[in-house]
Amino acid sequence: MLRKAGEIMAEYIRNGKLEANRKNRIGAGAYGIVYESDVPGNVMKEVIVPESKQDYAAVNTLKDETDLQAIAAEMGMAPRVAGLEQFPGGVGNRMEMADVRENYEPHGAVMQGWPEGMDAVRVNQQLGQLALKGVRLEDRHNGNVLYNKTTGRPMQLDFGIAGRVEGSEKAATLAMVTSEGFEAAGIPEMGNMLRDIVMDYLEGGQVEEKDTGTKILEELEQQLRKKKAAKEDKSNLLPSFRSLGGDISKVEYKSAGGETYKLFYGGGPLSKGA
Ligand SMILES: Nc1ncnc2c1ncn2[C@@H]1O[C@H](COP(=O)(O)OP(=O)(O)OP(=O)(O)O)[C@@H](O)[C@H]1O
Ligand SMILES: [Mg+2]
Repeated sequence: MLRKAGEIMAEYIRNGKLEANRKNRIGAGAYGIVYESDVPGNVMKEVIVPESKQDYAAVNTLKDETDLQAIAAEMGMAPRVAGLEQFPGGVGNRMEMADVRENYEPHGAVMQGWPEGMDAVRVNQQLGQLALKGVRLEDRHNGNVLYNKTTGRPMQLDFGIAGRVEGSEKAATLAMVTSEGFEAAGIPEMGNMLRDIVMDYLEGGQVEEKDTGTKILEELEQQLRKKKAAKEDKSNLLPSFRSLGGDISKVEYKSAGGETYKLFYGGGPLSKGA
């Protein structure tokens, strides 16, 4: 009896503390608020809209969100999950996780913006690693990624728009984020090439449900290497072209269809000219 009373008292005190912290929120989105937990060093993410009433079907329940974040947390890419509390009806459901503000900070001028430059490269690298673990993570605007204050390493928050991927979906997800990473690194051609190869693959059914991430990666790497080598191999070029030697910067070329193309030799773009 005494023990029971103690428990009730402790719960009462805890809720009072959480209530006070809730007023002092760290962040807020469309469906939830984030505030300090009663446990020092942790934060709570709490749902403020009943999960059945979310107006966007792609948004996860907090339970799904917690499960997906736990996978990323294992990989050191998301805050460690400390717990999940669920209540009837879903309002007030809350996830407890590590408060990462001491070592991580937001980047970008506006929260609605997207990661840029090296940040985008690193974020897409992590999204690729997550895809290999079977997790597709979306909605990476500036409010959902923090960066290590010294190393710049990203920390992913908000697994509200995310899901599991397997087989061909896994390959497609990996290809998309990798090509976005290439784009961010300033080599969009590489990204396009990769996307093309994967799409070819998927249409040809070469990626099977049973394929592991490693196999998909190996095959992609091999194909990329082949394509790159073919691109660098000058024996494929028109004979007239080859005989012109190394230093051409621009050549005009009329196609059989009568269209004029300007070829920029030496890795530059191929554009249709007037
Ligand atoms: N573990 C954490 N440590 C420190 N700050 C956090 C943590 N999690 C979230 N935050 C802060 O709270 C803000 C909102 O978090 P989050 O994006 O997860 O929720 P949300 O946008 O309300 O979610 P939803 O988009 O599902 O409505 C973040 O931008 C960040 O500033
Ligand atoms: Mg968010």
